[in-house]
Amino acid sequence: MKIRQEQKQDYPEVFRLIENAFKDELYTNHQEQFLVERLRQSEAFIPELSLVAETDRQIVGYILLTPIKIVDEQSQETASLALAPVAVHKDFRQQGIGGQLIREAHRIARELQFGSVILLGHEKYYPKFGYEMTRNYGIRLPFDVPDENCMLIELSENAMSHVHGTVVYPPEFYETH
Ligand SMILES: CC(C)(COP(=O)(O)OP(=O)(O)OC[C@H]1O[C@@H](n2cnc3c(N)ncnc32)[C@H](O)[C@@H]1OP(=O)(O)O)[C@@H](O)C(=O)NCCC(=O)NCCS
Repeated sequence: MKIRQEQKQDYPEVFRLIENAFKDELYTNHQEQFLVERLRQSEAFIPELSLVAETDRQIVGYILLTPIKIVDEQSQETASLALAPVAVHKDFRQQGIGGQLIREAHRIARELQFGSVILLGHEKYYPKFGYEMTRNYGIRLPFDVPDENCMLIELSENAMSHVHGTVVYPPEFYETH
């Protein structure tokens, strides 16, 4: 299994992978494949942070990190990244592919000098990779969701110790297809 940057010719296969991966998930609007299509075309898109996991020329996993901002009461902005989505093909789960995609995305994000990654996700899965509640950092997401699902990882030590505020997502997160 190899992880590499997504290329344009992968788009249809990645679309189908995401669509199938989320099909039976409960806490989703089943629109993640369209979100990815919008984000690829947004100004914020960083191709190096759009990764596929490939085995025998089949794409079995995908992850995307997109720049967001954390804005405090003084309107001071700090750059961060949103992880949305990560998806692994049903036949290839429980083999660590999701974890490898997450770790590789973190590594590249660190190289690109980002200090953190923020996500809305399952409270049992992401702590394995070092995610904590954003509440612990005084950071909130602009959604009406339980605190335990709003998570953040610092990509370098104390990167977020002086940062607090509300996350501002690019408009593509709010649009529908
Ligand atoms: C979440 C997902 C990417 C994990 O992929 P994976 O390759 O199976 O992950 P890994 O093999 O690295 O890790 C599997 C572990 O995560 C746990 N896990 C997987 N999905 C989980 C979920 N939705 N909630 C909680 N735990 C989950 C498994 O129980 C397993 O735990 P274990 O190691 O203690 O047995 C995959 O299940 C998936 O594509 N799900 C549908 C899409 C989705 O929900 N994405 C996340 C939201 S953005």
